[in-house]
Amino acid sequence: MEHSHRFVVTIDGAAGTGKSSVAQELANRLGTDCLDTGAMYRAVAVLAIENEINPTEGFKLSSAIQKVGITFDWDNTPPTVLLGDEDISNRIRELDISGVVSIVAKQPEVREVLVKQQRKIGESHPFLVTEGRDQGSVVFPDAAIKFFLVAAVDERTKRRVKQLRASGTDVKDEEVQQDIESRDQLDSTRTDGPLTCPEGAIIIDTSSMT
Ligand code: DC
Repeated sequence: MEHSHRFVVTIDGAAGTGKSSVAQELANRLGTDCLDTGAMYRAVAVLAIENEINPTEGFKLSSAIQKVGITFDWDNTPPTVLLGDEDISNRIRELDISGVVSIVAKQPEVREVLVKQQRKIGESHPFLVTEGRDQGSVVFPDAAIKFFLVAAVDERTKRRVKQLRASGTDVKDEEVQQDIESRDQLDSTRTDGPLTCPEGAIIIDTSSMT
């Protein structure tokens, strides 16, 4: 258990399990900040694309991250994501990011830098709800409370299709399901910080929840 001047809640799970919605709502209700670590990996994907760095080149990427800087503007809710001075909050949600992000997230050099940054954010935001794939297992193993969200793949597909169509992107259900399954495979088989249920986590199946 953590000291009383610190209260970190971790929410981990695969894409489409409802992590972001739950994390933001919980942070609002608790009056804490909310850290979206997926946004940081997505920012690295943007960095790779903009600077024409091969997403498998972990060392080059980690140097570029340290040079350019990936930060949040905590004055906004949810916090805006900055690459250097550039607000990339919308850019990181575009479709071309999804293919690149799983590859950059596999590189140990990238994970090392981002995990360090996440722990620093934890120090400067002692009341924090944080979500991702490795927050309870690797980044904040001493968190006060850990959750692991799961949901059936067809339900996760429906949610993602709805989200994409609402933002004006026409997609086929099968394509989205394939994308989810291939990301699951990549996220759970990588050697560094794989998607896994953290020790002591409360498991919640959100399949039949709104
Ligand atoms: O949650 P999301 O879809 O925004 O995550 C984007 C990608 O980043 C996804 O492929 C998994 C990866 N990720 C990760 O490896 N570790 C985290 N803590 C958060 C996200």
